[in-house]
Amino acid sequence: MPDLIPPHGGTLVNRLLTGALREAARQRAAHLPRVPLSRANLADLELIAVGAYSPLTGFLRRDDYRRVVDEMRLTSGLVWPIPVTLAVDADTARALRVGQDVTLTEGDRPLAVLHIDEIYPYDKAHEAREVYRTTDEAHPGVARLYAQGDYLLGGDVWVFDLPRAAHEEFPDLRYTPAQTRRLFAQRGWRRVVAFQTRNPIHRAHEYIQKTALEIVDGLFLHPLVGETKPDDIPAEVRMASYRVVLEKYYPRDRVLLGVFPAAMRYAGPREAIMHALARKNYGATHFIVGRDHAGVGNYYGTYDAQRIFDQFPPEDIGIVPLRFEHAFYCRDCGTVVTAKTCPHGPDSWLHLSGTEVRARLRRGEMLPPEFTRPEVSAVLRAALQAQAAQ
Ligand code: ADX
Repeated sequence: MPDLIPPHGGTLVNRLLTGALREAARQRAAHLPRVPLSRANLADLELIAVGAYSPLTGFLRRDDYRRVVDEMRLTSGLVWPIPVTLAVDADTARALRVGQDVTLTEGDRPLAVLHIDEIYPYDKAHEAREVYRTTDEAHPGVARLYAQGDYLLGGDVWVFDLPRAAHEEFPDLRYTPAQTRRLFAQRGWRRVVAFQTRNPIHRAHEYIQKTALEIVDGLFLHPLVGETKPDDIPAEVRMASYRVVLEKYYPRDRVLLGVFPAAMRYAGPREAIMHALARKNYGATHFIVGRDHAGVGNYYGTYDAQRIFDQFPPEDIGIVPLRFEHAFYCRDCGTVVTAKTCPHGPDSWLHLSGTEVRARLRRGEMLPPEFTRPEVSAVLRAALQAQAAQ
């Protein structure tokens, strides 16, 4: 497929064993020491296995870890903004040896063999400051970092079974990068814009997606379905919102809906780079970065996740960020706008806070159609009312 964008680092990684190799690894794994994975680790394992995190072939070794945290690059010089690590507690670290193979498990289920190249301590506060720009434990990404073990295991993985989620959560939409690349090529899409989200679709999303689609061949809607913070809307509800709008308001032959198995880190700017690089691996050429991408609370400036791309020569990123201003409905324009395209002021603009949205839906009300398509309101209302009734 010569026309497609190259994966990050030039080669699409595949660490998923098949056939006899898979059987052999599975049998060996039965006799190795076990290291259980967290839900976020499991998502990372799947992303490594299928090549979404190309060029990573395992969990970061110390030199790569340090450079990623301090300079957003791997030791190879390739841009990589967020450490993908496997943390264990001190007792587990003491029981393991460098050079040893261990079995990575999901509960009782063995999934992969990790060859331990390094076992190393790390500075959590330093990682928090550099990667998350805060050491505040109220930040969900920082809280996860602080709660994990004090040692990291670095080394390559060979996966013989994907985590349960890969088989049970949206299996029909869980395309691997090799599969999306094939689909884009089959459809003749040379330029593809990818959209990351952890929210139900609203009119501003639709506006920026369709505006981006105007200048490329295809739209790759790629909601993240791994672990999110408890007050984010559950993935099933978000995906239901996507299915209803796609049915009615999107051209079938120009849109591909898939799911992104990653866990949210809420690392704002750095996570925007990570989201973009992963979508390049899936074959996208363009990536939407709107307001406060992957942000949480007030830790990041509204457009920090756009500005961070300016720190790199475009060829080091490869995929093109499409920067969008904050979009909302303007009553006087009668359409979704941004401050860039609308001459009216805030009095004409419709803004609803997340809290207000949830309160209205819980009361059984629909949201204004200028804010959310009625089909989506209905999905959200049913979900929130069911939740309230529990
Ligand atoms: S994210 O954590 O996955 O980034 P979200 O689902 O809210 O969160 O946003 C998905 C993408 O749409 C991000 O690029 C975000 O910046 C962008 N976005 C969300 N809402 C708006 C909006 N009203 N105006 C412009 N961009 C937006």
